[in-house]
Amino acid sequence: MTDVLLVAGARPNFMKIKPVLDALERRGVDTLLVHTGQHYDERMSDVFFDELAIRKPDRFLAVGSGTHAEQTAAVMTGIEAVIDETKPTFLVVPGDVNSTLAAAIVAAKAGCVVAHIEAGLRSRDWGMPEEVNRVVTDRVSDLLLAPSDDAVENLRAEGYREDQIHLVGNVMVDTLLANVARARQRTTLEDLALEPAGYGAVTLHRPANVDDPAVLAGLFDALAKVAERIPLVLPAHPRAAERMRAANRSDRIRIIEPLGYLDFLALQAHAALVLTDSGGIQEETTVLGIPCLTLRENTERPITITEGTNRLVGRDPDAIIAAADDALAGRFEKRRPALWDGQAGERIADVLTSTDPATFKRPTDI
Ligand code: UD1
Repeated sequence: MTDVLLVAGARPNFMKIKPVLDALERRGVDTLLVHTGQHYDERMSDVFFDELAIRKPDRFLAVGSGTHAEQTAAVMTGIEAVIDETKPTFLVVPGDVNSTLAAAIVAAKAGCVVAHIEAGLRSRDWGMPEEVNRVVTDRVSDLLLAPSDDAVENLRAEGYREDQIHLVGNVMVDTLLANVARARQRTTLEDLALEPAGYGAVTLHRPANVDDPAVLAGLFDALAKVAERIPLVLPAHPRAAERMRAANRSDRIRIIEPLGYLDFLALQAHAALVLTDSGGIQEETTVLGIPCLTLRENTERPITITEGTNRLVGRDPDAIIAAADDALAGRFEKRRPALWDGQAGERIADVLTSTDPATFKRPTDI
């Protein structure tokens, strides 16, 4: 019998699972690590395991790519077999990707105590697949491990019980703080021929931004204007790399292969500004004190705006350029939210080890 089964599947999961795995191992908890294989490229998966010294997964489900339904179904089928075999007491899932949702639903029906890391984040944009994943995962979870006060407030407003909600802080920050000194020492900038604070870093991968060629062209027009002020480097997610290369008209926007964890951390840490549609990068820039321009209309991480370095600029070129000018002129506040302190993994392990599965009341009453 396994005490805690942890599931990771996609790039943004790996750095979230590592501190929890370590904290549980330190407490002598019997853990099983499952990699669903949602992300599988060397640069989207293996490099994170190598650089962060995450142990080799105990099971690899090899679900690969597909439609949302295909991918979710494949993870559900694979996880069901692992749960049947290993009978975990707890199942832990991070984030909001399809692997998160799929594993949580299966575990809830199998009677595991389901713990969701990053519970309570809400963009209130039902057009985002991740928002569906967040809401449904929270609903089938027993323990809601919230990264910030706004997430706690969202969960209370949705009627979750106080004994389900735990404010544990941001576990991604644990990994960032543990690795940032090592990242800064790398030759990332030299390798890319960049000067500290002499460039902006960009990432784009959300369907709403990259799937429609007209929208993507508009974004690249705005980026080209920013690039007139400062050169931009864009490590491209494989799903959008080709379309972005086709949309790019500026020789001051360099599209490169995806970077590993440490090189991307170094790229952010030394940037003058970051432009992104990622969720995690809004958080990482806040902790690094780097201005972040979020190329979306909404965010599930509003705390990075109220207590961090993030601004929502949408896709409007004027707003993007005005915010870039503010960032380059130093007109951006630098703050860090409470409990983003490197101890979230410990707090999560404390919640898990202090929950008695025999007496914990399942959330049938919200
Ligand atoms: C997923 C998450 C998204 C997260 C992102 C981070 C969901 C619904 N979305 O989006 O929330 O921000 O990961 O990267 O779970 N591909 C490869 N190699 C890989 C993985 C993907 O080439 O290793 C390509 C394939 O063409 C694939 C496409 O990317 O079809 C999409 O991959 P998928 O995992 O479905 O979603 P992401 O866009 O990566």
